[in-house]
Amino acid sequence: MNFKILAFLLLFSFIAASHEISIEDKNVEEIVKQRMSNMSKIKAYSTKMYPLTMSGEFEEIKKLNDKLLHAAQEFKLLFTEGTQGGKASSLIWEDREKFDLFNDNFIISIENIGKSINNEDSVSLVENFNIMASNCGTCHKKFRN
Ligand code: HEC
Repeated sequence: MNFKILAFLLLFSFIAASHEISIEDKNVEEIVKQRMSNMSKIKAYSTKMYPLTMSGEFEEIKKLNDKLLHAAQEFKLLFTEGTQGGKASSLIWEDREKFDLFNDNFIISIENIGKSINNEDSVSLVENFNIMASNCGTCHKKFRN
């Protein structure tokens, strides 16, 4: 009888432990999925924005730019310890300072687009859009596999 109880307890703790592991795995998987989805959104918003930059449709551009900013700010937070995976280079976890700097430069470049929108200045808007877009390749070259 005691042995049966012991066996049951062992089995139960095994199930509990493996359940915990699968939850942990799922969390990492979900985080990787979310940052990929943020990047897909970043691509979609910037692609939509590009033909509008010279249109003078500042309200429309602002809507897209606000979404772009939000997706970029959130993206930076999706690289917590132990979430290596996807196409993210392991360098992100080895040179966090530089990765943070690249993210901050990207975010600042989007904020600068926002300033051009507020000033309704199409010339600086085009310039700032190009600076924002140059961040994609700079970061991918170093931090995306
Ligand atoms: C600060 C770094 C950084 C910047 C800036 C950046 N990216 Fe990325 N991007 C990444 C990383 C890292 C990944 C891989 C994420 C992963 O797989 O976990 C990625 C992945 C992607 C993907 C693939 C998404 C998927 O579903 O697999 C696309 C598309 C993309 N980026 C487009 C862009 C575009 C367009 C820009 C600029 C407007 C940009 N990125 C700016 C770091 C960056």
